[in-house]
Amino acid sequence: MRRKIAAGNWKMNTTLNEGKELIENMLSKLDENPPKQNADELLVIFGTPFITIESGMQLVSGNPMVKMAAQNCYSEEKGAYTGEISVSMIKSTGAEYVIIGHSERREYFHESHEMLAKKVDLALKHDLKPIFCCGEKLEIREKNTHFNLVKRQIEESLFHLGAEDFKNIVIAYEPVWAIGTGVTASPEQAQEMHAFIRNLLAERYGPKVASDTSILYGGSVSAKNAAELFANPDVDGGLVGGASLKADDFVTIINSF
Ligand code: 13P
Repeated sequence: MRRKIAAGNWKMNTTLNEGKELIENMLSKLDENPPKQNADELLVIFGTPFITIESGMQLVSGNPMVKMAAQNCYSEEKGAYTGEISVSMIKSTGAEYVIIGHSERREYFHESHEMLAKKVDLALKHDLKPIFCCGEKLEIREKNTHFNLVKRQIEESLFHLGAEDFKNIVIAYEPVWAIGTGVTASPEQAQEMHAFIRNLLAERYGPKVASDTSILYGGSVSAKNAAELFANPDVDGGLVGGASLKADDFVTIINSF
């Protein structure tokens, strides 16, 4: 059985103290308003800036439903790469997840399919679970080539993996035109792409792996639209940007399954 996941991607927001306060605030709101699912059914993931992960770990360690994630990692194990953070560094904080291939990294930092494949391999080698992002820009959707593009993103960076490794992958479909714009994909658009992705996984890895993989939707998920999006059979949760920085909104999103 695949898990439902509400994951926050805080991006480049919050100082150390602001981040700790936000996590404390969310955990106390979750205590007041606990999800009806248990930790085998639902995960909450905070994708904070690197500097917040360690303190975040201390705060969430008593709650089996809540995990920490990094938003990126480097594509080499260690060495002279000033300013970069390796997967073993992330792993040493206790974080269990790492977001790989976010469209902002592809766009502003020119991350290629090959580089993302290397990051995925390193993450798995060090026992970190990748949340692998894919999704098309508006012009691609307008040309109706979005299915081809998402297929290519997944094939080029993930399909070299064997089935055992693939079981540790979470996929996030994030159409670029919906990120930070307030324009959400309709529930039908999200479901259509998620079903397409699950079908791709079934062709490559068989129906069991496909059915067990969590596929998240990202792009202007809000406290208002989460329930409608999550109600679709192939939408297993959300990767949430802006709304994950507001404790009330994120707790509403977590309680939208
Ligand atoms: P928003 O929820 O702010 O649109 O961001 C989505 C996103 O990029 C999550 O990774």
